[in-house]
Amino acid sequence: MDGARLTRRGLLVGIGAAGGAGAMYAAMGALGLAPGEQDKAFTPPRKGDFSLQGRAAAKVVILGAGVAGLVAAYELGKAGYDCTLLEARAEAGGRNLTLRGGDRLTELNGPAQAVTFGQGSYFNAGPARIAPWMVTLDYCRELGIPIETFVNRSAQAYVHTNGRTMRSGTARADMYGYIAELLAKATNAGALNRKVTKGDQEVLLDFLRRFGDLGPRLEYEGSGRRGFVKYPTLDAGTPLTPPGTLHQVLAAGTGRAITNDFGYDQATPMFQPVGGMDAIVNRLVEAVGADRITTGARVTGITDQADGVEVSWDGGRIKADYCVATLPPHLLAKIPHNLGEPVTAALRRPVPVAAGKIGLEYGSRWWETDDRIYGGVTETDLDITHIWYPSHDYHAERGIVVGYYNTDQHAELYGALTPEDRRRRALTQGKKIHGEKYRTGVLSSVSIAWERQEHIQGGWVRWPDFDSSFTLLQRPAGRVYFAGDWLTRLIAWQAGAMESARGAVTQLHQRVLRSP
Ligand code: PHE
Repeated sequence: MDGARLTRRGLLVGIGAAGGAGAMYAAMGALGLAPGEQDKAFTPPRKGDFSLQGRAAAKVVILGAGVAGLVAAYELGKAGYDCTLLEARAEAGGRNLTLRGGDRLTELNGPAQAVTFGQGSYFNAGPARIAPWMVTLDYCRELGIPIETFVNRSAQAYVHTNGRTMRSGTARADMYGYIAELLAKATNAGALNRKVTKGDQEVLLDFLRRFGDLGPRLEYEGSGRRGFVKYPTLDAGTPLTPPGTLHQVLAAGTGRAITNDFGYDQATPMFQPVGGMDAIVNRLVEAVGADRITTGARVTGITDQADGVEVSWDGGRIKADYCVATLPPHLLAKIPHNLGEPVTAALRRPVPVAAGKIGLEYGSRWWETDDRIYGGVTETDLDITHIWYPSHDYHAERGIVVGYYNTDQHAELYGALTPEDRRRRALTQGKKIHGEKYRTGVLSSVSIAWERQEHIQGGWVRWPDFDSSFTLLQRPAGRVYFAGDWLTRLIAWQAGAMESARGAVTQLHQRVLRSP
């Protein structure tokens, strides 16, 4: 104990003495000290945290006003920290970018694009879907942002592989059907006897019959699950032509196109803010105070000092008690600093990944009226990779289809083209699936190549492995904290940026509370 002030150590020793190691460990978790416990229950800093100690909240300079920087400022602001955000781009938000008519999208070494979408149309050029378990939804709730379902899986959307197009529901029914049949046959032939008991085999066969919609002889003979040419109404409808043979189904190559939503981060249902993803940015900026954000401010130097951090930018210099640096690591690595060579080396480890999207606005929602597709994703083995249909404003007059969403080499290929050529290529590819209307019906388009976005230069990053560089940067270097999706296992998700910001805020606040 230190006078009237209860130190953390004293508190833990006391809890340990009274409640044993388990209680002490739990308390450590609550304080963010036990491994793996930091993100369990985040407690935002509160003004009241200081009152016992008669201390004031510190001054913090935050580099980058993307989602990580904004959340850091928002949470620190709850306790009265005096935050200043320096943002190199013209707007806050970073990769959370929603494009609407009237916007202009510039690009490194490329022409600017004028966005001419109709009123009410929008295109989420960056993040566009949120899983239910992600902290992103908690921020939507807290900030009063209405959400709606994002259709990530649709039986009505298509798979286009090896030059052929079929409904994804049809492709699934055929793959599941034949897999079930094979496994049922293997079971009945005794091939699984050494692994599966007789009793379990009964259960397995019962499941396989349901899984594949198998016939009485446990053979796949097609299924209503595949869909219809004409759906049942007063009559039984008109079935599709029967499924191909097992060989034909395998040769169609649909297998890799029907597992996209299997991951824990892609499983249905997913969500999106009503009216555009940038609602998250707008509400955060409001809560933080737009006057705390200086845009067009490019950071040129970071100096950690005994009593604070000095950050210089192309329009001035600012001194704060602490710094939270949220820039992409590959850009941060180039800024002169005195944080040591290991920090620079660690920042250089993650490799930026190219990612691109095109928004195609159509004057009619033919995918709804003609194809009966309401949201969802078509998977392809073409360089466009995916086509997304809008999960909002169904039956409206116009709509925006995402004509490609690709990464790595495919994204680099499109990124290297002019906007007109990206569009031409995307339309040529999409026409293979949707026919001529896909090309002729487009009103306008805009494409983004994230690796060519100034001050961002990548869709996200990939760590060669989550090694000591990764953990080094999760800790402060002097008075400088790092944050961003790139410092989490939730890379390429806003939730990563948010969790990371919370981690930095927790560490910073605890340090302020215990500093003399
Ligand atoms: N979050 C991005 C998306 O949903 C990128 C991503 C894709 C991340 C798939 C993980 C898995 O498209």
